[in-house]
Amino acid sequence: MDKVVITRKIPENGIELLKGEFELVINEESRNLKKDEIMELSKDAFGIISMVSDKIDSEVIENCSNLKIIANYGVGINNVDIEAATSNGIFFTNTPDVLTQATAELGFSLILAVSRHLIQADSFTRSGKFTGFDPVLFLGKELYGKTLGIIGMGRIGSSVARMARFGFNMRVVYFNRGKSDRERLVDAERVELNQLLKESDVVIVCAPLNEDSKYLLGRDEFSLMKDDAVFVNIGRGEVVDTEALIEKAKSSDRFGVGLDVYENEPNFDKRLLELKNCVLLPHIGSATYKARMRMAEIVATNVLKVKKGICPDFAVNGGELCRAKG
Ligand code: DGY
Repeated sequence: MDKVVITRKIPENGIELLKGEFELVINEESRNLKKDEIMELSKDAFGIISMVSDKIDSEVIENCSNLKIIANYGVGINNVDIEAATSNGIFFTNTPDVLTQATAELGFSLILAVSRHLIQADSFTRSGKFTGFDPVLFLGKELYGKTLGIIGMGRIGSSVARMARFGFNMRVVYFNRGKSDRERLVDAERVELNQLLKESDVVIVCAPLNEDSKYLLGRDEFSLMKDDAVFVNIGRGEVVDTEALIEKAKSSDRFGVGLDVYENEPNFDKRLLELKNCVLLPHIGSATYKARMRMAEIVATNVLKVKKGICPDFAVNGGELCRAKG
């Protein structure tokens, strides 16, 4: 029976689809597998269901003798060497669309949590410090009529834009490589990055990680931002120079930070813990039952499709490989 390696436990509906069809090797531990562990487990595997935190580079790929598909459990594709997969005739798929709304809602939750100090206020109440209504307790920021700057106006970015524009009457500006064809739908305006940083009351990073976005925001960029801005990242940690972010946040008590993603996950920079107004989440953007179950269905179905000789859905390198199949 062909083997499928699942590098972290996924929702049961995905496992059920594969049971009986494959030998399943599932990492049941609450930790990411190390590269050498992935290499050892997958050397004779037919498929790998990988997490966006697993680095599947050319060394891993070339070590596999029977691999036909890498089904990434997420929309991000920066963790896999696509060229190596393609040149070895291995499909590489991801799970777009089904997590767009969940991730955008999480992004907006972070904006609200930071703007209104929700996490600190909750801890305050739990620790018995609530002494009655206080006119100057936890004063925050209203969003209505303010400017939101979105870095990366793809599917998730434009969902955030819609919530901001039509839910909170915010002015929405964005920065993208090209003009987004979604901008008219969400009434947003494309501006240069420096203008976005100067004018925005809230800045949210929704961009994926690629050559253009790596360390897009460094010391110069943070210095342009307002001292009382809210900064949120739900894209990828490596879009931001964490050192520069910490410096900016330390320079102003009114600068707020909300992060769901980090450089070098899960070993994030512990100095973030010292920041005053900062909410830190454990990469849960797509963590709703609905999204995570659909993602499980997609990865499992794609492995089954490849087994049957059918082109999988959302194949990042599908064009080339499906053409090659004829
Ligand atoms: C993705 O899908 O790339 C997210 O970061 C995981 O939720």
